[in-house]
Amino acid sequence: MASTTAHKLSDKKLAVLGTGKLGGILLRAYLKQELFSPKRVTATVKHTEKALALAKELGVSVTTENRKAVKDADIVLLGVKPQVVGEVLKEIAPELNEKTLVISVAASVPTSYIEQRLTGKVPVVRAMPNTPAAVDCGMTGLCRGAHAGPEHLEMARAMFNAVGRTVAVDEKNMDAVTGLSASGPAFAYIILESLAEAGVKVGLPRDVATLLAAQTMKGAASVVLETGDHPALLKDAVTTPAGCTIDGIMELEEGKLRVTLIKAVVKATSRAGELLFEK
Ligand SMILES: NC(=O)c1ccc[n+]([C@@H]2O[C@H](COP(=O)([O-])OP(=O)(O)OC[C@H]3O[C@@H](n4cnc5c(N)ncnc54)[C@H](OP(=O)(O)O)[C@@H]3O)[C@@H](O)[C@H]2O)c1
Repeated sequence: MASTTAHKLSDKKLAVLGTGKLGGILLRAYLKQELFSPKRVTATVKHTEKALALAKELGVSVTTENRKAVKDADIVLLGVKPQVVGEVLKEIAPELNEKTLVISVAASVPTSYIEQRLTGKVPVVRAMPNTPAAVDCGMTGLCRGAHAGPEHLEMARAMFNAVGRTVAVDEKNMDAVTGLSASGPAFAYIILESLAEAGVKVGLPRDVATLLAAQTMKGAASVVLETGDHPALLKDAVTTPAGCTIDGIMELEEGKLRVTLIKAVVKATSRAGELLFEK
């Protein structure tokens, strides 16, 4: 089913509005995987010099004119900052209709906010990906708006499955997805960097320490994904009675690692709900 949908995407005209860090990661992946045909892709950015550089790099049409970019588009991927979504929708609304699928990756922006700024029953899917999409290891939460059907969600899923995994959630959980898996890579990099520093402290060369830390985190995450086992059970399997791991765990508990991570996600989630209302 997913590969059939992915196959169908190559006939579609795609407009990526706001081709910055995330929009750029997604578009580069789509072109590399030939999910969309370069001649059917138009991208936009704010600055002309950025448009020229991107057009040269990606081999697609890049402009600063959003309205022109979405003309006859089948799919519009909104990759601008939350505070800019309103003004971009105002520009493009006259060109969109019930046949255009709008996919927004903007944090904090509800589907209803987008729907209210468009005319007619335009299908909207809200997506929350993360930057590991750059190496096809992304995680994207998705939900559909009032006028989007299962076929629209399927199309969006195919676009994000191409760069990792997807999960459909209720829209009320989208800020939580933002706080956990969209902000999550930053938290994971801090943990990884700290493990590498620890390796240096106990005498390992930095490059070796970083490799050990990164592959260990990747390995542990892969086991959870592949077995479906509870992380606590997997942790117990590493923790030999009176061994060294339990001593390390005691330090983690004393340093309040768990509660600190929980608080980090809670803070990021509540912040995710505020972004739209800032100028
Ligand atoms: N970064 C992440 O990890 C992540 C994860 C999930 C979701 N998101 C969401 O993705 C969106 C973009 O985030 P980002 O980190 O990629 O930000 P970013 O790198 O700043 O990208 C924003 C892009 O929008 C362009 N832009 C600004 N105003 C525009 C306009 N009026 N018309 C067309 N393009 C315009 C900018 O153009 P210039 O380059 O010319 O300035 C830039 O390329 C946000 O809504 C964010 O919530 C990001």
